[in-house]
Amino acid sequence: MQTLLVTGGCGFIGLSFIRYILEETGFQGKIVNVDKLTYAANPMSLADIEAAFPDRYTFEKADITDSRAMADILDRHQVDTVCHFAAESHVDRSISGPAEFIQTNIVGTFSLLELVRERQGAVGRFHHVSTDEVYGSLGPEGLFTEQTPYRPNSPYSASKASSDHLVRAYHKTYGLPVTLTNCSNNYGPYQFPEKLIPLMILNALEGKPLPVYGDGQQVRDWLYVRDHCMAIWEVLQNGREGRMYNVGGRNEMANLDVVNLICEQLDRCAPPLASGEPRSSLVTFVKDRPGHDRRYAIDCTRIQEELGWEPTESFESGLQKTIQWYLENPQWVDQVRSGEYQAWMRSHYG
Ligand code: NAD
Ligand code: TYD
Repeated sequence: MQTLLVTGGCGFIGLSFIRYILEETGFQGKIVNVDKLTYAANPMSLADIEAAFPDRYTFEKADITDSRAMADILDRHQVDTVCHFAAESHVDRSISGPAEFIQTNIVGTFSLLELVRERQGAVGRFHHVSTDEVYGSLGPEGLFTEQTPYRPNSPYSASKASSDHLVRAYHKTYGLPVTLTNCSNNYGPYQFPEKLIPLMILNALEGKPLPVYGDGQQVRDWLYVRDHCMAIWEVLQNGREGRMYNVGGRNEMANLDVVNLICEQLDRCAPPLASGEPRSSLVTFVKDRPGHDRRYAIDCTRIQEELGWEPTESFESGLQKTIQWYLENPQWVDQVRSGEYQAWMRSHYG
């Protein structure tokens, strides 16, 4: 691997992945980061990387659905490996406006696959980053395995399922050298504060209501973002072509318990609320998300047995690091809370 193209590398996981590779793995090649810079992108989060690795890190602003621009980038940089993160990623936004999800997640992935098909041999690996949400919802028992049938329930998960099918089909039909990872909910530094954990950290810090959907008993399997990056890196290097790997944190927790844990940790390490009340008093039950999946939980035996990957972070320690990061980076928070962010918060939460 000489030149790695990362799509969506200004988003939460993409930028964490670029940081991880350049700072921690000893990778000596080049990284080209292609991002359209939607509301979810934060190129400033990589300013230090750009300065530290001027010859090995390049940013290109482009839309993955723009085949001509993407072809030029692939050829000009002689890309030999693609790691595809770019997506519209927020379930609630897919409910209020699904069109962008179809465009980027399905059409965008299709366009990239076509470009790689035209360059077979030159591009030796296409890795697709996907989600456990493609499997739908679990009851109280059981885990998602790589054999679980796809039953996506939201426009977001349906668009990711479609893209997964295209990736798999391009391997079966055209022999494209693909790998896929389907992972559970990520959390960690640099996550855009529309997602549960950073939203609750910031609202709890500021004494604002903590909007818990429905009864708060929905379960997610929380994965610290660095563990996810390690898994993708492992699959990129040693994963079997055509194979998908589930990645999970072995950290199942109900939403309400997550929110209460955030409140407890903040009560210990942040100044008290003006009211003197514990932060859990801010919990506010709000209208449930339509089609809300009840439970996600991942069986990650395959990646563990074949590639030796295991999650390293416990939820308590990962959450502590995450909270600390948000406490120490108020300027990052101010920067991402743009006008567009305010408009989303007003339209979604009232
Ligand atoms: P994110 O929303 O934080 O970032 C997405 C990035 O993609 C942004 O920088 C955005 O500008 C870019 N982008 C969007 N449309 C684009 C386009 N048309 N062309 C080029 N760039 C475009 O998302 P994330 O949380 O970092 O997720 C990354 C990937 O991981 C996604 O594919 C997502 O489906 C998947 N995933 C995320 C989670 C999670 O918990 N966040 C869990 C499982 C899988
Ligand atoms: P989210 O971070 O949006 O991830 P996903 O929907 O991809 O799992 O939400 C995680 C869980 O938290 C999900 O069950 C919905 C719930 N949730 C709330 O209860 N309140 C909120 O304000 C948000 C954003 C999410």
